[in-house]
Amino acid sequence: MTADAPAAQVLRTLGADAPEASPSCAPHVMLIFGASGDLTKRLLVPALYNLACDGLLSKGFALLGTAMDALTTESFRARMSEDIKAFHTRGEFEQDVWDDLVSRFHYVQGGFSDLGVFETLKGEVKRLDAEYAAEGNVLFYFATAPRFFGLLCDNLHQSGFKDGDGWKRIIVEKPFGTDLASALKLNEDVLANWREDQIYRVDHYLGKETVQNLLAFRFSNGMFEPLWNKNYIDNIQFNVSEAVDVGGRAGYYDSSGVLRDMMQNHMFQMLAYLCMEVPGSFAPDAIRNEKAKLLESVRAYSAEEVERFVVRGQYGPSVDDKGNPLKPGYREEKDVNPASKTETYAAARLHIDNWRWEGVPIYLRSGKALWKRGTEIIVEFKKAPEVLFRGTAVPALNANRLIFHIQPYQGIEIQFQAKIPGPTMRLQPVNMKFAYGDAFKASRYTGYEVMLYACSHGDATLFSRGDLVEAAWRVAQPIMDHWAETPAEFPNYARGSWGPKAAADLVAKDGRRWHEVVTEEVLRKVPLFKDGDMVFLEQVIMALRSKQVAAGELIIRKGELGQELYLLARGKVEVLSDTGQVLKVLSDGDIFGEIGVLMSKPRTADVRARRACDLFVLQRADFSRILRDNPHIAAAIQQIAKERYKLNIITAALLAPD
Ligand code: BG6
Repeated sequence: MTADAPAAQVLRTLGADAPEASPSCAPHVMLIFGASGDLTKRLLVPALYNLACDGLLSKGFALLGTAMDALTTESFRARMSEDIKAFHTRGEFEQDVWDDLVSRFHYVQGGFSDLGVFETLKGEVKRLDAEYAAEGNVLFYFATAPRFFGLLCDNLHQSGFKDGDGWKRIIVEKPFGTDLASALKLNEDVLANWREDQIYRVDHYLGKETVQNLLAFRFSNGMFEPLWNKNYIDNIQFNVSEAVDVGGRAGYYDSSGVLRDMMQNHMFQMLAYLCMEVPGSFAPDAIRNEKAKLLESVRAYSAEEVERFVVRGQYGPSVDDKGNPLKPGYREEKDVNPASKTETYAAARLHIDNWRWEGVPIYLRSGKALWKRGTEIIVEFKKAPEVLFRGTAVPALNANRLIFHIQPYQGIEIQFQAKIPGPTMRLQPVNMKFAYGDAFKASRYTGYEVMLYACSHGDATLFSRGDLVEAAWRVAQPIMDHWAETPAEFPNYARGSWGPKAAADLVAKDGRRWHEVVTEEVLRKVPLFKDGDMVFLEQVIMALRSKQVAAGELIIRKGELGQELYLLARGKVEVLSDTGQVLKVLSDGDIFGEIGVLMSKPRTADVRARRACDLFVLQRADFSRILRDNPHIAAAIQQIAKERYKLNIITAALLAPD
């Protein structure tokens, strides 16, 4: 693709679509500190390559990499040419585009504290500026450990990098500080010789299309903004689940934890976008003012409030049937202190003390080594009054939900209830979904394209201003302080689970529960559901409720009239005889409680959690309704009943309305 090719569909930020704006990045020399590291090869270079493929990289662009590694321009280019094959995100590799791009790459070896090296770099930047006609513009990218940020700013200043024509801008990677004091100090160091408008603090979540779309969704649609407040919204949930563990990053992670690593930055950014006031315009500072104001309204907790509203967790090992470890717990991971108190999971209920949100619980949770990868924001509206439905077959109304699926599935979903076709008034939860894949043909991006592009145009919308970073630390600091002072009972959740039960209890205290986003893929792992068609699976998904139980807890009591069927997502339960003998052990993917429910008979045995369990619960009324629509599944249940329990369930009982 050449520079004349149409611009990428997803890279239209403030400048790109304006008629007078250049469609490509502004010309510049990009000087990367830490160019031999992971970030450069995994994200920065693939992002530059995407920009080049979409004709969005200026002809006046050159890259100068520097690091301690003994590389030359030739060996740096060779290394990048190898790495790009593994890390590019496009369907097909465009060799000619890459050849042109990599020919613009240069390298200087050196240490960050050596002013002599900065003299060499300055000479190189000047030479490249002349060779590529970069108009004196220089973008400094700090892809280094944070301890170098202040030093680099200082040395760039001392070496006279700010002199001359053109703009000079610095992109700083996260983490920006490790607590409030260090963030304040870092802001002071960075701003000692540079202006705030020259500093671009990266939060890669702001590069995600689905995150940027939060603003587009809220402010370009007239439908929701009038409802966007405490009068109509019951609660908001932010969920960032990661299936990955700390991997090889424990050296960094063990002194960080999920509060610093995910919440204080990525999650607070999403929170700010979702809950901020309407800005006066789309100008960068208009948006950044509102974001900072929002985070300043988040209540900083007292120690007692941290106890009440925040939960931490750390993953333990996953174990086989006999209890032998399969994969290590966090404390057994390489480079982790065996007595580590670092949290790999956190859940919080935050309060936004302003007119719009006062009293609306804002729930956040994030963790590593969880059951799935998925980032979602769930906005739950207040329920409609049920009074109208009294005397009808409608048992209870569900709340409407608006779900932003951030990743890996990208889309927006609205959940509501609809009348089930038929002669009586019966309701079923249904949904409407917008999927990115159905609406756009955009290529997959790393998220860094838009950052580099916007920075070259001086558009700081997608970067954090100093006051926002400080406001975020002000919220996180009391939590960190309280945790540092109090013992932690770790590990408290198993790898592959939904997280600690305390997180479920946190929300249950308010009479609510976490909304688990279940996919068809997950349901198909259950033998009973595996052949279900899309309509069936969607019906089940909409009806499932999540429940976590602790080891030893009784889930079903003999003699009770059962109203629930359980799907064991993860864990182990045992079915007990009258004398307490274990009759049967069920594990991941099994269902139980179905017979009592379907036959409207008292439960025939106790069922107890042998290990902590994550369960999905299906109410009898919902299950019968779904089976009425899916007679082949009803037949499968009859079969299971026959084989497992020697029971003949008559179809009428199975399908009877409650
Ligand atoms: C990084 C964190 O900032 O974000 C990682 O340091 C985390 O621990 C990652 O895994 C998550 O990013 P994404 O884009 O995969 O959600």
